[in-house]
Amino acid sequence: MTFQEQILQGIPQDLPSKSKYPEGVNRAPKRKDILSNDEKRLAVQNALRYFPKNWHNALASEFAQELKDYGRIYMYRFKPKYKIYARPISEYPAKSVQASAIMVMIQNNLDPAVAQHPEELITYGGNGAVFQNWAQYLLTMKYLATMTNEQTLHMYSGHPMGLFPSSKNAPRVVITNGMMIPNYSQPDDWEKFNALGVTQYGQMTAGSFMYIGPQGIVHGTTITVMNAFRKILQKGDNPNEKIFLTAGLGGMSGAQPKAGNIAKCITIAAEINRKAATKRHEQGWVDVLVDTMDDLISRVIQAQQNKEVVSIAYIGNVVDVWERFDEEDIFIHVGSDQTSLHIPWTGGYYPVDISYEESNRLIREEPEVFKEKVQESLRRHSEAINKHTEKGTYFFDYGNAFLLEASRAGADVMAENKIDFKYPSYVQDILGPMCFDYGFGPFRWVCTSGKPEDLDKTDEIAAIVLQEIMENSPEEIQLQMQDNITWIKDAKKNKMVVGSQARILYADAEGRIKIAQAFNNAISEGKIGPIVLGRDHHDVSGTDSPYRETSNIYDGSKYTADMAIHNVIGDSFRGATWVSIHNGGGVGWGEVINGGFGLLLDGTKESENRLKSMLFYDVNNGVARRSWARNDEAMFAIKREMERTSNLNVTLPNIVENKILKGLF
Ligand SMILES: NC(=O)c1ccc[n+]([C@@H]2O[C@H](COP(=O)([O-])OP(=O)(O)OC[C@H]3O[C@@H](n4cnc5c(N)ncnc54)[C@H](O)[C@@H]3O)[C@@H](O)[C@H]2O)c1
Repeated sequence: MTFQEQILQGIPQDLPSKSKYPEGVNRAPKRKDILSNDEKRLAVQNALRYFPKNWHNALASEFAQELKDYGRIYMYRFKPKYKIYARPISEYPAKSVQASAIMVMIQNNLDPAVAQHPEELITYGGNGAVFQNWAQYLLTMKYLATMTNEQTLHMYSGHPMGLFPSSKNAPRVVITNGMMIPNYSQPDDWEKFNALGVTQYGQMTAGSFMYIGPQGIVHGTTITVMNAFRKILQKGDNPNEKIFLTAGLGGMSGAQPKAGNIAKCITIAAEINRKAATKRHEQGWVDVLVDTMDDLISRVIQAQQNKEVVSIAYIGNVVDVWERFDEEDIFIHVGSDQTSLHIPWTGGYYPVDISYEESNRLIREEPEVFKEKVQESLRRHSEAINKHTEKGTYFFDYGNAFLLEASRAGADVMAENKIDFKYPSYVQDILGPMCFDYGFGPFRWVCTSGKPEDLDKTDEIAAIVLQEIMENSPEEIQLQMQDNITWIKDAKKNKMVVGSQARILYADAEGRIKIAQAFNNAISEGKIGPIVLGRDHHDVSGTDSPYRETSNIYDGSKYTADMAIHNVIGDSFRGATWVSIHNGGGVGWGEVINGGFGLLLDGTKESENRLKSMLFYDVNNGVARRSWARNDEAMFAIKREMERTSNLNVTLPNIVENKILKGLF
């Protein structure tokens, strides 16, 4: 059967033979055995409803075994035999070009070159799923291949509920991931309901088919590190010879040394897992590997003396580095941490003074002891950081729940008011006021032709558009514009493409719209093929997350999720090709609501209308909310937008003088 025929058949007519698990593939961790026997029977019953009755006997015991072995039913047998990767859009069987664009993106997110655990349909972040099982994948691809532009596919956590009649202007796909009744949003609820096969953790971009490999994270981390140094440096000074100390060389954290090199500082990234550190070194993402603390110290001193831009991976525990650098009185200019503290008890954070192997044993065999060790380590970790910050180090939380978990462990990380943390998060201090409040966020695009030449042309177009905008930009956003022009000009040189031909940059509503318009023109002139636009959920308006994206909201509304919900609804009727909304993302299940979109540009006038309307709302929804929260930069940005957009009329806050409030209570 051809690739097209296999897509059109969906669940195969004949029971496929069992295949062996491929070698050398990074396998998802075995999940918690959390279901009772009755619930396990329910999980198998749920899985079998995808298949005809006459297969049930054969599949029931196989699925029961998968549940026993892996804690989930992935239906490995149904994984198709064809290669999964982003094919050129014209190779997908479809009645709707929009639907074929979505197939390109799904296959990109499951491409073994892109995905973390491709056999388990996990794209990144350990549990960021595109689908829960292979039956969902097969059915979804079939629906997409057969649907028209007057239907919408509704997807519940990977499960395609079906095609419903809609209209040409409606999204082709509406996705929800992990949406729960709020009281059922604890981590164990995810374990249980995911094991039952009724929900999934979509992370941010995995469950919305918008992940484009490590490029997104390198760009975001570069913007953060560069702006962190700007906060502490005098005018005219630069990051050369200055130290950025952090931890983690994993999925996202592995971008830190590369970003440090682009920002031109000395980066030290401690990584407890030798395999992770070696992998990043082999990939060229970190320059030097060191095993001992003495070697680390002498290499850092050498780098400072020689004014080197270098990134160093220290194989060991980050707590040791903070403590020893204090003893040696080595000044750390910028400090952060990207251990996976959003999952502290299952290997996200390795406690100091315990070997990696011993920690892994404790996780399995003595979870309560492990928890105590993690908390003890977090207290020590924080104490060492405090000693450095007293000497002038600028420390920020990298959205990994470091301060949250440290505070829960009783570490000295609270501010005097006992409500806030002592240190800002990277969004509170850097991305929020410097980017999101002005509407700058991680806009991205994918060239669906699959041609590298198309990507080159889009890079050129984007650079020209940004330069034109910058000429008339106010002072407040000049730095952001310049950073992104530099980024896009160097983008090809940085060799960041993995999987689809994709690019990312930070732009505000004006930038996103003008770049998209220029792409649409180039498509209509036949210079490039169709383009999918999207963005990271980690953006101005898409994500409500009190310890991350919305941590710089101070009017009490950071614990609400109205903005993200409005965003997905608002985008859906303004022209998005698909929309998604998720519970859970980088900071954990129950801790965040985040959403995104995909928008196909095909060179038509209709595309132009859609992009203008949708991208404008997609950014300005969040700017308006940030302005209502009294953020100065957002008030500036939304007033500017109202001046040039006649039918935008946003409610502005009146600022109350402090003396009025002082004696009230
Ligand atoms: N990069 C970003 O822009 C960004 C943004 C927001 C949040 N985050 C958060 O950063 C965290 C890391 O993400 P990831 O994808 O890299 O996770 P990951 O689990 O792949 O990597 C974390 C790494 O930290 C290492 N580690 C754990 N404890 C350690 C210790 N005590 N000393 C030294 N190394 C230790 C682990 O071995 C692992 O390799 C997550 O919580 C994520 O949500 C990152």
